[in-house]
Amino acid sequence: MRIIKKIDELRAVVKDWKKNGLSVGLVPTMGYLHEGHKSLIDRAVSENDRVVVSDFVNPTQFGPNEDLETYPRDINADAALCEAAGADVIFNPEAEEMYRDALTTVNMTKITEVLCGKTRPTHFAGVCTVVSKLFNIVTPDRAYFGQKDAQQLCVIRKMVSDLNFDIEIVGCPIVREADGLAKSSRNTYLSREERQAALCISRGLNIGKGMVEGGEESAAAVIEAVENEIRREPLARIDYVEAVDYNDLKPLVKIQKPFLCAAAVYIGKTRLIDNFIVE
Ligand code: PAJ
Repeated sequence: MRIIKKIDELRAVVKDWKKNGLSVGLVPTMGYLHEGHKSLIDRAVSENDRVVVSDFVNPTQFGPNEDLETYPRDINADAALCEAAGADVIFNPEAEEMYRDALTTVNMTKITEVLCGKTRPTHFAGVCTVVSKLFNIVTPDRAYFGQKDAQQLCVIRKMVSDLNFDIEIVGCPIVREADGLAKSSRNTYLSREERQAALCISRGLNIGKGMVEGGEESAAAVIEAVENEIRREPLARIDYVEAVDYNDLKPLVKIQKPFLCAAAVYIGKTRLIDNFIVE
């Protein structure tokens, strides 16, 4: 497996693969890889002849008061995980290599302004811009994204359709810790006490999921039950719990499928997201 830091070098490698008729999978990440990322890499390795994992803490998707500086990084551990999983290349560019003096951004309206977009108004422009760049650099046949970031997956699918990228987007299920907490690079910020407190999120969502599966039709009732469970935890502060149509992310009154119930919750200073989808 190779670690590549330069765009031109990666392009040359991919060109060579394509000349030989090999299919290419891309797994975009910000590194500090865990089992959630690994599930995407495993799926990509099983479905493509060659796999590129991008490992880039993308500055443009962080807001001014967010955690860009403290975001955890460990390229050596990431390389070991990718190698063991059978990836062919880790693309680990510097911010200067990716952006230089760039003046262009990829913006999307509507579905980027709801849910996480309310608290993070510039976030999805940063995501769309960097993912477009990665798509143009790697020109993959397939790209893999987790349902953990359900809104991001929805935004990327829409971008691919709107901008006619010839890439299949593969959505992969959420990987959790044994006790239910959704795996996240940001879980490393949690103290022992906070780590325990964070379980209120998956516990609350599970209650909501049970209600929907049991035939509950009122979105408000589901949201209230999820919020009530999270509010029992003193260290938790809810950013949002919302129930939306998973196609257009519009709020639902009556539950209909596909349905996304998404939550963002501060545990101390750490903002965590989780969700469940009923297709
Ligand atoms: P990052 O948070 O590193 O996540 C990379 C990919 O891993 C995303 O598609 C995310 O949904 C998926 N992922 C993270 N935790 C997961 C879990 N517990 N189960 C399943 N999948 C999980 O998302 C980003 O990076 C960035 O926004 C990026 C798309 C790379 C653009 O910079």
